[in-house]
Amino acid sequence: MQHSSFSRQFDKDLLGKFDSEILNRTPHVAGGDKTGVVANPTPLVDLTDALSECAKAEYGIRIDSKRVRVFGKLDSQIFGGSVKVRPAVEIVRDAIITGKLRSGQKIFEATSGNFGICPAPGLKIDQNLVVAKAAAANVREQLAQLGLDTSVLDKNRGDVEALLAKQDVISLAKLLAKIYNGFCPEQYDNELNVRSHETTTAPEIDQQLKAHGYSLGDFRIITAFGTGGTSAGLAKYAQAKYGQKPVHVVFPLANQDVAGIRTRDKAVGLRFYQPELYGGEHEVDFEAARRLLRFFAGRGYGIGESGALALYSALQMINYGAGSNFVVMIADGLQKYLADLEVPVETSDSLEVNVQEANSKQQGYGEVLWTHAMFVPREEGVKLVAEALGCDEDKVKVATARDVQSLITTERIPAGINALLPKDKSKTLLVCMAGGTSLRVAEVLAKNGVVAQSLTGGIMNLSQTNNRQPEDLVQVATE
Ligand SMILES: Cc1ncc(COP(=O)(O)O)c(C=O)c1O
Repeated sequence: MQHSSFSRQFDKDLLGKFDSEILNRTPHVAGGDKTGVVANPTPLVDLTDALSECAKAEYGIRIDSKRVRVFGKLDSQIFGGSVKVRPAVEIVRDAIITGKLRSGQKIFEATSGNFGICPAPGLKIDQNLVVAKAAAANVREQLAQLGLDTSVLDKNRGDVEALLAKQDVISLAKLLAKIYNGFCPEQYDNELNVRSHETTTAPEIDQQLKAHGYSLGDFRIITAFGTGGTSAGLAKYAQAKYGQKPVHVVFPLANQDVAGIRTRDKAVGLRFYQPELYGGEHEVDFEAARRLLRFFAGRGYGIGESGALALYSALQMINYGAGSNFVVMIADGLQKYLADLEVPVETSDSLEVNVQEANSKQQGYGEVLWTHAMFVPREEGVKLVAEALGCDEDKVKVATARDVQSLITTERIPAGINALLPKDKSKTLLVCMAGGTSLRVAEVLAKNGVVAQSLTGGIMNLSQTNNRQPEDLVQVATE
């Protein structure tokens, strides 16, 4: 790992802890290692046969697996579970040794997806001040739960709301870091983001391909785009070592929201969006890629949304004769997307239930409880949930967004939610927007000895199957 010079006053204890608990578990080139071998590499696995089966079964496309080779770079299996761990380690370690980050300081950062603070999938809401105010209240609540003094935020409320109204979470993270004397990694502008991939991810892939008997010089690399760090870092390495542009960047179509990554229009203008470094850019339909996502999920591969999009793109390139050897970046795993999948995937002990099953077992639930951290159902929403589940409307209770946030962040059951749980300790059916929050709530309740199940797909799934507009069913919580 390369680093800046040590500041005289850096926090030695923090660096020691960071190195033993994080650096030692994540990919890095050890300081004294002259061979440049990357320690803790993530697996590079041959997905050719599985992709070929998927192509045939899902898309009716034949791939000659003797003539193509597709490797998945499973950053889903990195300690921490995401490709983002790589720049995070590089940037945070640098901040410690340069004295910018010390024990007790908080780190604030913006997600690299299209929407930092986002409406649920399918829900269109005006980016107006009403939403900004609700989002600011939400941010305030989360800061309070982290033990931060909310009066500091209140003094800057105008600036915070203005940034939220523009959905400018990149600047919001910087502002919060400044007012709370914390640290913002600034992953969109920090060269260490790119460098982490140039000095670790790329040589790692190079070394692993060699071990499989191949050369990176004969492969194309496909990656999605969040901040542009991965694509730029890989491209720079390949340019310097092989004089080639093997990196192809994939984006979802303009109106599609894929977790953690950007559409092309939201990438243009960012510092690390550098098309001159790429071999190609592709805008790919995520709806078509979903079949691949489900196929691989059913086979037990932990491939998240952006990885599925990239792998689907490789399939299409093979189909159109645009290459035969690929390394596909699998940026993260499947766990957080399970709620949206319609295939039976093994999750821990029936914390989830689909609508048909929930309907047929309705008598077994003492309560139906809405749990979401930002939205609550309108009357129409409650009606739809009750109809779909075959129960009376008054069986559907609504937890406050504030209580849901508190439950998730503290992993304890707030009194407000406790009061809504069935008195006879029977099972609770949890419903939210798309099934993600309610699954998380079910997990926390289980940890606290309360039996609950989450309705897969949430109210968004019901709105689709019943041809209803999400904005008629839910609204931003204002309490
Ligand atoms: C799920 C996912 N895929 C891909 C990427 C691409 O990473 P980068 O920020 O390096 O462009 C990210 C990160 O942003 C991500 O979260």
